[in-house]
Amino acid sequence: MRVLSGMRPTGKLHLGHYFGVIKNWIELQKNHETYYMIADWHALTTSYKNPEQIKENIEQVMIDWIALGLDPNKSVLFIQSHVKEELELFLIFSMITPKSWLEWNPTYKDMKYNLLKIADLELSFKGGIRDLVKEFLAKLPYKVEDFEALEETLLDTISETFVRTVFDGILEPEILSKLNVSKRDFYDTDTYGFLGYPVLQAVDILIYKAEAVPVGEDQLPHIELTREIARRFNQLYGEVFPEPKALLTETPRLLGTDGRKMSKSYNNAIYFADSKEEVQQKVMKFFTDPQKLRKGDPGRPHLCPVFSYHKIFTNPEQTKQIEADCKSGALGCVDCKRLMFEGLNAFLEPIRERRAQVEGSLKELKDIFLEGSEKARQTAKQTLEEVREKMKL
Ligand code: TRP
Repeated sequence: MRVLSGMRPTGKLHLGHYFGVIKNWIELQKNHETYYMIADWHALTTSYKNPEQIKENIEQVMIDWIALGLDPNKSVLFIQSHVKEELELFLIFSMITPKSWLEWNPTYKDMKYNLLKIADLELSFKGGIRDLVKEFLAKLPYKVEDFEALEETLLDTISETFVRTVFDGILEPEILSKLNVSKRDFYDTDTYGFLGYPVLQAVDILIYKAEAVPVGEDQLPHIELTREIARRFNQLYGEVFPEPKALLTETPRLLGTDGRKMSKSYNNAIYFADSKEEVQQKVMKFFTDPQKLRKGDPGRPHLCPVFSYHKIFTNPEQTKQIEADCKSGALGCVDCKRLMFEGLNAFLEPIRERRAQVEGSLKELKDIFLEGSEKARQTAKQTLEEVREKMKL
């Protein structure tokens, strides 16, 4: 089975990338034909104002991929923008993709939702109708158990439905100009390229005739759209593209140092490029069970981000002991974090070493990706020829 996936180069990778994505990619390269791309054109859709950063980010991703164990002898590792053939197919797909498919894409709608500050609109609408709803509820001929809860639920549902309904029709500039939102923010992100983001992703997948695409749940709409574009092309001109299926990765979500999802933008991530000391500092600052204030207080491991790390990085026997000692209060958080750091560091140390090695031979690293891109191009060229032939271009 041919497998393909991609990652936007947003900088150095953290633990979340490994457990959420790369670990699975490494597993797949053992038994399948795997293509992994650095999607630098996709990065351009959101960072077109500072494109000079992308090059550096690509390098960081290359270093981390190799250090983590993606293997150029097993996988085609390449850079999207090195395969110019993608652009021709991008143009063709742009011709056959109805605009409405893209406008209904949840990622695009969410972007508009955020930029238009729809959540604020919902809140103010909710405030405006509260008295009306109260009045209405007071007249109900039923006995209501929990009046306030019902009122809140109703208010939420009505506001959301109302604002979303309006919102689906307010994309025209005149209406937009009446809203109190920053037009610059809006127009900066609401570009032709952003709307077409999933078309480019469909090209990424289909030009290599991938059959399976390992992705997180947030990407499912993009895969569905890819399938629709494949079907549409095949119907119009004849069978060229297999309909790829999504391979959902079921990974436990790795938490950041503050207990939220690990993410660069939350500033709570542990990077493979971090030194031992940096990791240690981050571990010592980890959030713990807020009810466990001092050693002796009983803790609740199932609520503690540090314990979620023990489950991954500490051996099972010791983890059991830690769980018991945390619950009884015998183990304090500082000692618990020290133990966790030991396990985490044992995992990170060899990766850090490989990282340093790879960083010391950048020429070889770049050659790996040049070679991969050349291989990818061969596949892309063949597909493109078929496309032209079927379309009688
Ligand atoms: N859109 C994906 C993301 O943000 C990255 C991506 C680009 C991708 N091209 C792809 C994923 C092709 C899978 C297949 O995560």
